[in-house]
Amino acid sequence: MALTFKKLHPLYGVEIGGVDVTRPVDARTFGQIRAAFEEHSVVLFRDQPMDDTKQIAFSELFGPLEISGSANPGVGTPFARQSNLDIKSGETIPVDDWRMIYQKANYLWHSDSSFKRVPSLCSLLSGRICPPSGGNTELTCMRAGYRVLPDSLKNKIETLVAEHALSHSRDRVEPGILSAAQKAELPAVRQGMVRVNPINFRKALYVGAHAGAIEGWNQDDGRGLIDELIERATIEDHRISHAWREGDIIVWDNRAVVHRATAYDTVKHKRLMQRTTVGGNESTLPR
Ligand code: OGA
Ligand code: MN
Repeated sequence: MALTFKKLHPLYGVEIGGVDVTRPVDARTFGQIRAAFEEHSVVLFRDQPMDDTKQIAFSELFGPLEISGSANPGVGTPFARQSNLDIKSGETIPVDDWRMIYQKANYLWHSDSSFKRVPSLCSLLSGRICPPSGGNTELTCMRAGYRVLPDSLKNKIETLVAEHALSHSRDRVEPGILSAAQKAELPAVRQGMVRVNPINFRKALYVGAHAGAIEGWNQDDGRGLIDELIERATIEDHRISHAWREGDIIVWDNRAVVHRATAYDTVKHKRLMQRTTVGGNESTLPR
């Protein structure tokens, strides 16, 4: 059966049909999926009854997976679990529990694993339990985010280096939520502010909530520029807001989009999303 392609947004994003990604995908079909990913940055598949084993198998077609760090309930596995359900009991986690506060950083625009020296290629998020309302995932096209910057700003950021750390995004929500040991696990890393796709050479702005400083700048000026860039890039015209249905799986290109979660009633409704993250293979900075 031939694949079908339906645009999600005038600028980017595509829904692919005609394939069951919960079963082994042949190389020719995957080649088309990979090409769509490089071109469109966001790829949605619907009605895919995913489980952990199947998600790992599909995700690994994109490359080796990252393993979750100590702050995520999926610690030591390829899964970053985004959920209001306790991993053991399945009961709703109270709103003031640190695990819920920790997840609030997901409400800020970010690119997954930008706090790693070699940041991720892409993430795959699968909707396992979806609330009836709220809990959307929003994405922003950062190729467009780059394009709309005035030339003066484009020139300015070309040679700047941003410092990214998990603690920067967590400190934006609740200073001190990470332990000293968790901070030490992930020291700040240096990232370029423009990321170039090595296949089609398209440029994207590379900032987000994990970016907290600019090398050689004072703290306030650095944060000021980072926040200005995020604001200029993440305008509504650049945005997809995805309302989840169980069985949806989205692959997004962390080099070319930022994303965030939206709120839902975490007391009344259940939400369980499983994320796998495919590691990158190149630094964002010239050697
Ligand atoms: C993630 C993430 C957003 C969401 O899994 O990396 O940011 O809507 N998720 O759960
Ligand atoms: Mn994320």
